[in-house]
Amino acid sequence: MTYLDPRYQASIAHYKYASQRIPLASQTFSKSRLSLPYGASPLFLERGEGAHVWDIDNNQYLDFINGLLCVSLGYQDPDVDKAVIKQIRQGVSFSLPHRLEAEVAEQLIQLIPCAEMVRFGKNGSDVTAAAVRLARAYTEKDHIAVCGYHGWQDWYIGSTSRHLGVPKSTQELTHSFPYNDLTALENLLQQHNFAAVIMEPMNLSQPKAGYLQGVKALCEKYQCLLIFDEIITGFRFSLGGAQQTFGVTPDLATFGKGMANGYPVSAIVGKKEIMTVMEDIFFSGTFGGEAVSLAAAKATIQKMQQQQVPQYLSSLGQQLLKQLKPTFEKQDTFTLHGHPSWTILSIAQEQGLLIKSIFLQEMCLRGILTLGTHNLSLAHQEADIARLVSAYAEIVPMVCEGLEQGTLASKLTGQAIEPVFKVR
Ligand SMILES: Cc1ncc(COP(=O)(O)O)c(C=O)c1O
Repeated sequence: MTYLDPRYQASIAHYKYASQRIPLASQTFSKSRLSLPYGASPLFLERGEGAHVWDIDNNQYLDFINGLLCVSLGYQDPDVDKAVIKQIRQGVSFSLPHRLEAEVAEQLIQLIPCAEMVRFGKNGSDVTAAAVRLARAYTEKDHIAVCGYHGWQDWYIGSTSRHLGVPKSTQELTHSFPYNDLTALENLLQQHNFAAVIMEPMNLSQPKAGYLQGVKALCEKYQCLLIFDEIITGFRFSLGGAQQTFGVTPDLATFGKGMANGYPVSAIVGKKEIMTVMEDIFFSGTFGGEAVSLAAAKATIQKMQQQQVPQYLSSLGQQLLKQLKPTFEKQDTFTLHGHPSWTILSIAQEQGLLIKSIFLQEMCLRGILTLGTHNLSLAHQEADIARLVSAYAEIVPMVCEGLEQGTLASKLTGQAIEPVFKVR
């Protein structure tokens, strides 16, 4: 019998209710009960303010998940709220396009190196799928090379271990390649007729010197498009995305997550010559130009520019890395990767799920919500970093001691988490 911590009583009761009505009781794998140790963590949140959230048992957490990186300024940001409320009073979805569509498109064009034209979607998956269809139409080729995570749709998810329901014929068109290895990419590009290489310009590792330039050169050599999936890196690494940070301009790029501080809007941007082909591609939806999210995007991007948010996130992240150093130096079970604004914890393979479950459980106990990444927002302050660092200083030695003494399993009170899949 799993121990159920009474502090999560309402969460557990609601899980029983919701799971009868909603498969997995969640719309998102990473927010579901698979991702945090059941019985030793919250399952449902109710409200957020700044860098904090409250669960349905009214427990408060310092949040380092931030809606899976979409809350980039903080919960209830006053400037975004003001713009949203103003737009709500004028209407949400209209029968013809709204003026805001071109206004936000112009903001993106001004900021993002490859952006000459723009189309909007709602989720990141909308625009990665649009980019792939556009690349296929433009190049008249079918195969796609992928590196990283690109969303739930058939064309991509068929290449992962979560391909249930995706036809084999679709799976066969998508091929993954390892990051920072130009030889592997070239070998792959020689094997089929590729329409595009789509990749996260960076996730766990820094690109090696010349790597992204090399990818671009290979795309030119094999006449396929280069698409940067900037759903996470956009508005986080810099206002122009990772393409600006690393000085490599792709043909197309996709944005989403943090560009509207949690409101659902995403964008595909790119060179005019390619983007105009969109006029004939069926990328079309009822909510594509929904005005409240665009008002949120406009206000979020303005604030990011005014307050130089990417610089703030990077410098806060650098402080975090510096302060974590003493704790991480003494062991090799936990390592940190990624960009300072989005650092990612890696855990040694052996007993990895058990270790991660205990780590998450202990973070929850200390009032910190994380999935093992530090998704910083403008609302995080130095004191929040200090709190996270002290939690690590307690948890890391505790796990290492449990490993050494063979007592680790006894430290898990809830159920171990289950892996969804690994693509990074
Ligand atoms: C790099 C990247 N691309 C695409 C997606 C898909 O975005 P969405 O979940 O909004 O469909 C994600 C989501 O996590 C992502 O991280």
